[in-house]
Amino acid sequence: MKCDGNQVLDPMWVKHKREAMHVEGLSNLPRHNQGETVPKFEDPFGLHDVLQDPVPRGESLGARLCNFADSLVTSYLTPSELKPSLDPSVLLSGIFAPVCETDPTECRITYGRIPEDLDGVYLRNGPNAALLHRGGGIHAFDGDGMIHAVRMRNGSASFCSRFVKTSRFRQEQAAGRPLLPKILGGMHGISGVARVFISGLRVALGLLDVSHGIGLSNTNVAFFNGHILSLSQEDLPYILRVTDDGDVLTLRQFKLPSRFIMCSHPKFDPVSGDMYAHSLQFSFPIHYSLFRVPASDDASDDDGGGGGNVCCVPLLEVPVPALNIPMAHDFAITQRFIIFPDDQIVFRLAHLTMGETPLGYDANKTGRFCLLPRDSDSDSAPTKPQWFEAPGINCFHYLNAWEEGEDEVVLIATEVSPADRIHEFPHTITFGLSEIRFDTRKGVVTRREICAGMDLEFGVFNRKYTGRKTRYAYYGIWSNRVFKGVVKLDLMHEGSGGQESLVAKREFGEGKYTGEPCFVEARGAKSEDHGYLLCLVGDKQGGVSELWILDALSPTLEVIAIVELPAHVPPGFHGCFVNEDQLAQQKP
Ligand SMILES: [Fe+2]
Repeated sequence: MKCDGNQVLDPMWVKHKREAMHVEGLSNLPRHNQGETVPKFEDPFGLHDVLQDPVPRGESLGARLCNFADSLVTSYLTPSELKPSLDPSVLLSGIFAPVCETDPTECRITYGRIPEDLDGVYLRNGPNAALLHRGGGIHAFDGDGMIHAVRMRNGSASFCSRFVKTSRFRQEQAAGRPLLPKILGGMHGISGVARVFISGLRVALGLLDVSHGIGLSNTNVAFFNGHILSLSQEDLPYILRVTDDGDVLTLRQFKLPSRFIMCSHPKFDPVSGDMYAHSLQFSFPIHYSLFRVPASDDASDDDGGGGGNVCCVPLLEVPVPALNIPMAHDFAITQRFIIFPDDQIVFRLAHLTMGETPLGYDANKTGRFCLLPRDSDSDSAPTKPQWFEAPGINCFHYLNAWEEGEDEVVLIATEVSPADRIHEFPHTITFGLSEIRFDTRKGVVTRREICAGMDLEFGVFNRKYTGRKTRYAYYGIWSNRVFKGVVKLDLMHEGSGGQESLVAKREFGEGKYTGEPCFVEARGAKSEDHGYLLCLVGDKQGGVSELWILDALSPTLEVIAIVELPAHVPPGFHGCFVNEDQLAQQKP
């Protein structure tokens, strides 16, 4: 969607937008205009062009009926107040406001030089709501996926932002209105349930096609088997293509046999290239299916574009309770094992009727991990997974894992705290880094804190070491809903629980924010940390966004170059760097 400035504006949204733009005191989590007016935020990002009122199109009688029902819900069932964790005037205010697409645009390099071995494209995914029901809720995880891409070649850079053109996005854009409530923030309460029924009516009347999923594709990006994949947990991946001029096109879905969704954090073995992933299966009983997709397999070349599916080797099924489905946002692999979590962060579907987001905490459950031998599959002799109880360990993300000796497996993870307030995310939530050890002989789990006292999330490392012992990690420093800087950690530096692991730290200055860093190995790297850290840096006052290129090897994360971007980049989720060779391998 491009902003042409001609959309009809909804006065309520304009009011929301005006009020939201005035909110700047993020530390107080303001609901409405509690802060000083910040003139620079007077529509700096074109929000009212993005959050648009439905535009009448040539509508059928059935469409008019559904739209009328939608308007009744808005008029009579919309809650008078939303919790901050579901309120768009909070979640989409200030730097979090959705932005328009940006065509490929040359960038100015304001400091230093882009290294000559950094040719490729940095792709960062994140939520960017295009359409919302008036008065409806949204969750921090709910916006339509938008890819921000910085293409670097021969020392120059260009920038482009594009929505991931999911099936849902295309249909809602064509209709000029939201056709479904947001999954985590919009389905709750009476109005949410009513809108689910209206969406069902649209499906029944042929006004909405859900056969290609209803996901937002807003979480991650990965390169696999000649495909750039846009990923989110509630849908299948979408295949992207980066063009010569740095534009980002959405080609089609990456089809998997008998699977309708796939996790957003698949793992790739650095030697075989195989992809390991999981998928929540809604057949009875509801279960997670762990599977492997071979790299360079002939069948894997057929990604669905030719009418078929990729090759998919099932490894394990984990049944889960229908009313408390573990979130399992991430997992890990070692050279011999898959480590799959079953912790207390769950989707509580029953809470939808109580005005809550379904993302919640199961106090009656003891969290556990499964270690599954990677070589097990449905055709071989059954290999039993080993389960470990791990009370109180609840994580969103796992950095990496590896084996030590014959009996030990090490997992590096960020624990969520307090996990029983997870329904308030991103408010009140902090993160702590841990080393979790599994003794496979004794069947016990131990853990120790790393960098105690630091609030760290969104870790990355040199992915050549996936499943292997990893010394260096790079994390964002979490502070009041954003990341204010990055750190480099030495995971091998044993300490007494203090900050002995901290090697280097870089903050980007007062009023600046960043996100997940991206590690890119230097050409001909001589050590694990020989490479670059790419950091998107934004300005809370509406100033320019930038890409900072840091020297990951240097003891101070020295700044190598700063690229000025032509558009604001809101905080987002995960990304990856696709190098020149991989870009050349992209399949049509
Ligand atoms: Fe994630």
